[in-house]
Amino acid sequence: MALSPENHRQLEALYQKLKEESQTFVGYPCNLDFDYSELAPFFNCAINNVGDPFISSNYHVNTHEFEREVIEFFAELTHAGKDFWGYVTNGGTEGNMYGLYLARELYPQGIVFYSQDTHYSVTKMLRILNMRNIMIRSQDNGEIDYEDLKETLKIKRDFPPIIMANIGTTMKGAVDRVETIREILNELAISNAYIHCDAALGGMLLPFIDGAPRFDFAVGADSLSISGHKFVGSPTPCGIALAKKRNVDRIARSIEYVGTLDTTIMGSRNGLTPLFLWYAIHRVGKDGFRKKVEQCLEVADYAIEQLKKCGQHAWRNEYSTTVVFPCPPADMVRKWQLAPYKGIAHLVIMPHVKKERIDRFINDLIKEGKKS
Ligand SMILES: Cc1ncc(COP(=O)(O)O)c(C=O)c1O
Repeated sequence: MALSPENHRQLEALYQKLKEESQTFVGYPCNLDFDYSELAPFFNCAINNVGDPFISSNYHVNTHEFEREVIEFFAELTHAGKDFWGYVTNGGTEGNMYGLYLARELYPQGIVFYSQDTHYSVTKMLRILNMRNIMIRSQDNGEIDYEDLKETLKIKRDFPPIIMANIGTTMKGAVDRVETIREILNELAISNAYIHCDAALGGMLLPFIDGAPRFDFAVGADSLSISGHKFVGSPTPCGIALAKKRNVDRIARSIEYVGTLDTTIMGSRNGLTPLFLWYAIHRVGKDGFRKKVEQCLEVADYAIEQLKKCGQHAWRNEYSTTVVFPCPPADMVRKWQLAPYKGIAHLVIMPHVKKERIDRFINDLIKEGKKS
């Protein structure tokens, strides 16, 4: 049965609304600049990536081959060498859950340390996984307070620490230095430790910025999570989880029903998102991503300049495209879809945010200021 004219009108109205709302989208870290229409034929396949993408299963209508290529791209980007395993997740939250789950299986007595600026997905997962945890103070720029971390680790040194490092905090884009955390662990002679990097956004920024702090496997990460719908861009949320294969092998379980290893958090898994990521990796490539990051940093500096001209205290962390400023009035928050938090808001400069969009935002801010 075909859709009724009313149904068509509903879909058209929804499409127009989404397009319109996209014009004032600057407050969340999602790149709207992509075109995957070439992949439309795959909408008519019942793709399911159930199971481990690196092992064949009874369910063949999958995109595991493409998923493996995506994982290999991120493994190379994060200097994982040959000892890596990973999969395409539903987003940053699942990647964080995977890292915490793996860490808990390796260190059942472990205590999780995370900063005040950590994304709420981590505290949620700590509750779900029932893991002991301690919150560490943050510095004003949103980075973890290393002194507080060191002092707390000292007190709890008889339990293996599991440290969640933020590679770009949600509100301020601050980067916890993995190399400094490893130094602290070495100084305290703590050898049984685990570091998970929540690199939701920063995971696609830092590798393309010269001199940026490293958060990869070669400098001490044990697992990491990067979102796919953030900097890469995708019509549906997605991400990747990456970990050391030798650790994953210790917790893998074989499941007869699907004829593969049950290494992923979810059972049935999205088979389209690996295709989106694969497509972007091939169309944009590393050089393209580097250019996009450079362009975003330039627009971020432009936004800071323009905000300062309006008398706003605007700033950003060095390796971030997140521009922090005092939270504007409620109408601005609503129209520009800003994320208010403790008196601040931010513009997250993604590839779709050009100077023209900043100008429109600033014009609205000036108009709003005249009202009060
Ligand atoms: C630092 C950080 N970690 C994790 C997440 C959660 O990612 P997702 O919404 O993809 O689950 C976010 C989302 O904004 C984030 O900023």
